[in-house]
Amino acid sequence: MTEANRRQTVLSGMRPTGRLHLGHYHGVLKNWARLQSEYDCFFFVADWHALTTDYGDAEQLSEHVIDMAIDWLATGIDPQAATLFVQSQVREHAELHLLLSMTTPLSWLERVPSYKEQREKLAGKSLDTYGFLGYPLLQAADILVYGAEFVPVGADQVAHVELTREVARRFNHLHGRKVLAEPQALLTRFAKMPGLDGQKMSKSYHNAIELREAPEQVEKKIRTMPTDPARVRRSDPGDPGKCPAWQFHEVYSSEQTRQWARQGCVSAGIGCVECKRPLIDAVLEELEPIRKAASVYEEDPGAVRAILWAGAERARESAEATMQQARDAMGLSRWQSESPAPMR
Ligand code: TRP
Ligand code: SF4
Repeated sequence: MTEANRRQTVLSGMRPTGRLHLGHYHGVLKNWARLQSEYDCFFFVADWHALTTDYGDAEQLSEHVIDMAIDWLATGIDPQAATLFVQSQVREHAELHLLLSMTTPLSWLERVPSYKEQREKLAGKSLDTYGFLGYPLLQAADILVYGAEFVPVGADQVAHVELTREVARRFNHLHGRKVLAEPQALLTRFAKMPGLDGQKMSKSYHNAIELREAPEQVEKKIRTMPTDPARVRRSDPGDPGKCPAWQFHEVYSSEQTRQWARQGCVSAGIGCVECKRPLIDAVLEELEPIRKAASVYEEDPGAVRAILWAGAERARESAEATMQQARDAMGLSRWQSESPAPMR
């Protein structure tokens, strides 16, 4: 392939936190599915990143990794179009992380906004660890090892991409050659998926609908989700602006349905149960093919592992090319490539 028709590289990772929900689907996966047809995409399960905060539960980690991979595949992330793999299967991430750690000032890591925030938020855990402080540098290595041009992330991760650029610049400057490419954040401008309570959908808020959730359960969750508290009786008019279910209409309903709901709400012409019916139908319709596709993979975890294995192999090939240059720039390459002279 010539330089001119080489597709640009996109890379993104996700921490394995268990089964994915509608927030991941609308906020991330639909975007990835679009990107995979336009770019050379690397998508990986960031299991080492999970260990930086949750280092105590090996069983759960491996289950979360496979669950996440299944949900990716079930939502149309296509292993033919994109390279899907598990971070820990590509050791080059760790090697580049180590090399970058030699020249990254501690102060750069200490001032990453998520460092202080997360430490305070997860105050119950002992996060006075080297791994936790170094996690944004590991992320930098994830990105730089593939020479990724674009990194689709949410707003909370932009500072990490910025750090990655500084790390690359410093490396290139110190070693007098351009080995590492500076990536750009691709801000995900996809619909924010509200949770059942109107806050952002998140597993830790217990307001999520999982992609593989049973239909009865989905129906029940939407049926019982809160509405405008002013509508105590059916005859009380409501205000969609104060209603979490209305936010679902904004994601799922046509203009016409929204008009019907708004009108019915403010005039007390419809009840909340009625208003939610099209939402239940729309979510069930969206999830049905995902649940079906997932069940095929659930029954054949070997196939999932094979996909991840093949992806890791492809990823390694690309990462190796960068690593050879990085080792060379730091004076390590001789020891990698020459066979030892016979002993005298
Ligand atoms: N840190 C990201 C998160 O917590 C996940 C991640 C790890 C990532 N490595 C990455 C995202 C590289 C983009 C690029 O969500
Ligand atoms: Fe919400 Fe619809 Fe009930 Fe109005 S009628 S409060 S928009 S669920």
